[in-house]
Amino acid sequence: MDVLVVEGGEVLEGTVRTAGAKNAVLSLLTAAILTEEEVVVENVPALADVRTMLGILKELGGEVRELGEGRVSIRMAEIPEPVADWNLVRKMRASFEVLGPLLARCGRAQVSYPGGCVFGLRPVDIHLKGLRALGATITTDAGYVLAEAPPGGLVGAEIYLGTPFGSSVGATRNVMMAAVCAKGTTVLQNAACEPEIVDLAQCLIKMGARVLGAGSPTIVIEGVERLHGTTHSVIPDRIEAGTYLAAGAITGGRVRVENCRPDHLTSFLDALHHAGCAVERGTDWLETQPREAFGSGLERLRATDVTTQPYPGFPTDLQAQWVTLMSLAEGISVVTERIYTDRYMHLAELTRLGARVRRQGSIAILEGIERFSGASLMASDLRASVSLVLAGLVARGTTEIHRVYHIDRGYERVEARLSSLGANIRRTSAE
Ligand code: EPU
Repeated sequence: MDVLVVEGGEVLEGTVRTAGAKNAVLSLLTAAILTEEEVVVENVPALADVRTMLGILKELGGEVRELGEGRVSIRMAEIPEPVADWNLVRKMRASFEVLGPLLARCGRAQVSYPGGCVFGLRPVDIHLKGLRALGATITTDAGYVLAEAPPGGLVGAEIYLGTPFGSSVGATRNVMMAAVCAKGTTVLQNAACEPEIVDLAQCLIKMGARVLGAGSPTIVIEGVERLHGTTHSVIPDRIEAGTYLAAGAITGGRVRVENCRPDHLTSFLDALHHAGCAVERGTDWLETQPREAFGSGLERLRATDVTTQPYPGFPTDLQAQWVTLMSLAEGISVVTERIYTDRYMHLAELTRLGARVRRQGSIAILEGIERFSGASLMASDLRASVSLVLAGLVARGTTEIHRVYHIDRGYERVEARLSSLGANIRRTSAE
């Protein structure tokens, strides 16, 4: 298994380009299930999760062709058996999102329950509630969800999609894809407003769907007979962009992130501003401004509290990176995780670098220290892993991050991009 080895202390400087958004591309690929015509997705990032999703589409009978330069063609001419096996779904939770489109296209679907994950239970009850409201019969057998449309097909309905933790991105997508060919009108209330939902809706509209209001909490879908093929380019990854800005902020360097959407990162940029990191912006770029060194060290960031919330609130997918930043800030900061209350696997590892952290339920209290001291660490999930890499960039000595395959699920060539900014980072194989 690969290990990332980081020698801390370099001030990062330079430019990186954001790849296509992982959390948008996965559902755009599943949208191809909705038509027998060809769908071409552009700006597809080279990620392990994308390969997993393409594998699922092939298993379902799809013809998948990589056209080069991030373009992928998918043609689901026939779907002999609408079944997504546990072996595929267990690798990646997002594969559960084949359920809605399979049900819409084939009238039935059998998809493995995704199971838990390292940061909590992550139920799918709201996905199923939405599909039931459209008339589907849902049963569970041997760890699988069996969904069956009524004889006349799915029927539009008004559906409230809220969870105790806010709106659900995955349930909004699953139900939206099931509803595009349902009879009549579907109204999704408390729908997720994330940019990735808007991207999917725009792709569905190009395929002939009638979807209004995506990006707001109320989405209205008028069912159509059938969808056709299209070409669609994935939006830039806001979480990847935020992570590289965090790398600039923590090292005090000038990191310019190009091909990004500053308007998708408002809450994160606001928090950086409060913390004392200046960020210049243009229409499609952001750049952290260097902080002055004083005495023997860098001017420290200021302690800044954040609470994760559904979009446009502070994203849970940038919480771990923020914890790393605040572990070195001046003062005490409070980070509250409202989406996944157990998403704190990184705290114990950061403590091994010297961080002073206390956790009370969903709240982490960080007393900023001056410097981390490098150590060997274990990565647990995608964002926790990258937060440890950020810590390694400024730690005294060497930091080794084990089990980095988690990072490859969501960050394209992370060590190459960080090296191009001047980081001293390399990948090796563990014994
Ligand atoms: N929830 C329920 N019931 C449901 C569905 C969700 O209670 O049926 C709860 C969840 O447990 C959570 C909250 O609702 O507390 C929000 O979960 P959501 O459904 O929005 O999450 P998701 O769709 O499974 C996507 C991203 C995650 C990201 C979350 C929140 C993809 C593939 N994944 O997950 O991304 O953290 O939205 O923004 O889009 C990551 O990229 O590292 C990642 C985990």
